[in-house]
Amino acid sequence: MSNFDDHTDQRPLEQEPESNQFVDAALSRRGFLKATGAAGTVGFFAASPVSQALASTVKNPSNLLGFEAISISTQDTVNVPKGYRADVLISWGDEVVKGAPTFNQNNDAKAQAMQFGDNNDGMTFFPISDERAVLAVNNEYTNNEYLYSHQGKAITADDALKGQAAHGVSVVELVKQDGQWRVNPDGRLNRRITAYTEMELTGPAAGHSLLKTSKDASGRKVLGTFNNCANGETPWGTYLTCEENFNGYFADSKGKELGETYARYGLGAKDRGYDWYKHDDRFDMGIEPNEPHRHGWVVEIDPMNPNSTPKKLTALGRFKHENAALMLDKSGHVVVYLGDDERGEHLYKFVSKNKYQPGSDTNRDLLEEGTLYVAKFTGVEGELKGKGEWLELTWGKNGLTPENGFPDAASVMVFARLATTQVGATTMDRPEWVAVHPELHSVFVTLTNNKNRGVKENQPINAANPREKNLYGHIVRWQPTGSDHTAATFEWDIFVMAGNPDVHPSGLMAGSDNINADNMFNSPDGIGFDRFGRLWIQTDGKYSNKGDFAGMGNNQMLCSDPETGEIRRFMTGPIACEITGLTFSPDYKSMFVGVQHPGEDLAPSHFPQGGDSIPRSSVLVITKEDGGLIGS
Ligand code: FEO
Ligand code: CA
Ligand code: CA
Ligand code: CA
Repeated sequence: MSNFDDHTDQRPLEQEPESNQFVDAALSRRGFLKATGAAGTVGFFAASPVSQALASTVKNPSNLLGFEAISISTQDTVNVPKGYRADVLISWGDEVVKGAPTFNQNNDAKAQAMQFGDNNDGMTFFPISDERAVLAVNNEYTNNEYLYSHQGKAITADDALKGQAAHGVSVVELVKQDGQWRVNPDGRLNRRITAYTEMELTGPAAGHSLLKTSKDASGRKVLGTFNNCANGETPWGTYLTCEENFNGYFADSKGKELGETYARYGLGAKDRGYDWYKHDDRFDMGIEPNEPHRHGWVVEIDPMNPNSTPKKLTALGRFKHENAALMLDKSGHVVVYLGDDERGEHLYKFVSKNKYQPGSDTNRDLLEEGTLYVAKFTGVEGELKGKGEWLELTWGKNGLTPENGFPDAASVMVFARLATTQVGATTMDRPEWVAVHPELHSVFVTLTNNKNRGVKENQPINAANPREKNLYGHIVRWQPTGSDHTAATFEWDIFVMAGNPDVHPSGLMAGSDNINADNMFNSPDGIGFDRFGRLWIQTDGKYSNKGDFAGMGNNQMLCSDPETGEIRRFMTGPIACEITGLTFSPDYKSMFVGVQHPGEDLAPSHFPQGGDSIPRSSVLVITKEDGGLIGS
């Protein structure tokens, strides 16, 4: 276990299969390219890899990518291009709160609550000055095979509490010394937020009976955040942390029939091997059936105020949130793109009701009220592109009515997944991170993989998810109509389809034209843009380096030019890790990147300390030896 990304099957209600007329044309890679040519290369993405490949078989080299690509690795090290270095900034168990004990596998819950959490994931760098900053980092889950010396589930109450303390968010102050960012152990903003930190529920579902428990009659006070996957940040300086596989912590000791509103979220009799429920009633749905409704939200944290109460944002819907790609639209509305990482789940968009007012305190309420939408993709015959629309998830509209199981506005937010099926959204191949291009306004989403695509009846092949059993994943991008992120429509295409042209020389398994033997990867997950428009792509894929995955090596980070489609490998990680989480210093001379779960499932990693040490998830800081811009 431990790798939560291997999700259990979900059972969304059956959907009408979309037209699959495009599939025939896309059956072979050659057909895929030809079909696009037949329609001409004048499209909304004239420079897409598919259309470029038609114009010429040799692409112009990208001017944006200024580093030498590196080869794959199966070593227990981090590799970066010539002229770069990668240093460990902080690892699981390092001091965050002043006075934390030195890391030791046998540290207790009290120690862990002062130390850096496990499995770091999404993160944001918040500058204070040229020499001072705060880094907010998610700690997604725990590798129990290392967290406890007994290598298993929580046995004692202290084990359960230690597990809870290893989750959440770590907020660490950084200082720049001799040109290098380091952790400031004396930072007054250093803070741990855990699975039992008190938080406030805000937005349309706050106070609703679905959110009340025996310990909280108000339905507004909740303890903790956990399975904090990726992240976002706001123009008013707060951090967004996204609750993903929250279901994995709940069990039901009484074996009651919980019904569809639980099943759709993967909530059932058993948890995913944590055993917290044996020590803490909150996690036993037989005792607290509403507790899981209080998780699965995006949480807003003020990293500059260590005494602030984090806010859970019910206006952004409840699902398995990956990241929160927030942007300020030209209209002044705040728009947040959100993925729900599960096979056959959906892509969402939130638009704030009110507008951003520079310098105003009212901005802090912008994520409490607005409209949530879900994406519907339609295809164009013979092409892997098409049109799309955003379907509104508002109570009383689109069939979201009491007759269909939505008695009020709060129920639409709490059971957002059920609402998406009601309105007829497109099932996707596990939407992970979303990223918005800093200038072109195009938006990218990673669809990491989906073994159920074209296999399960409720997940038929569709235009945006065209590959059966999608083993390698792909990235879809869209352009909002008029580059207006509040617009109801968009046009989309596939930016890259990962594949293995060595093992599968033709067909969709070979990948799109911008994939070759030198840049192969699988399961794109974390993505983000730098200010110059480079798209950084991180992987959470199979690292066997065998069979369908031969030639792909350990998980990695690549960098691409969205305009030419070129993709180059920039970094490789240690054994059995995932690369996830990225953020930059404002001068783009330091890049912070996460190495998550090195040595998971007792694979032979000793990263980062080497020797016979146990492996520890870590945040790295990457710099250029000449002090230059990363990637240039
Ligand atoms: Fe936490 Fe979907 O990755
Ligand atoms: Ca992820
Ligand atoms: Ca993983
Ligand atoms: Ca993943």
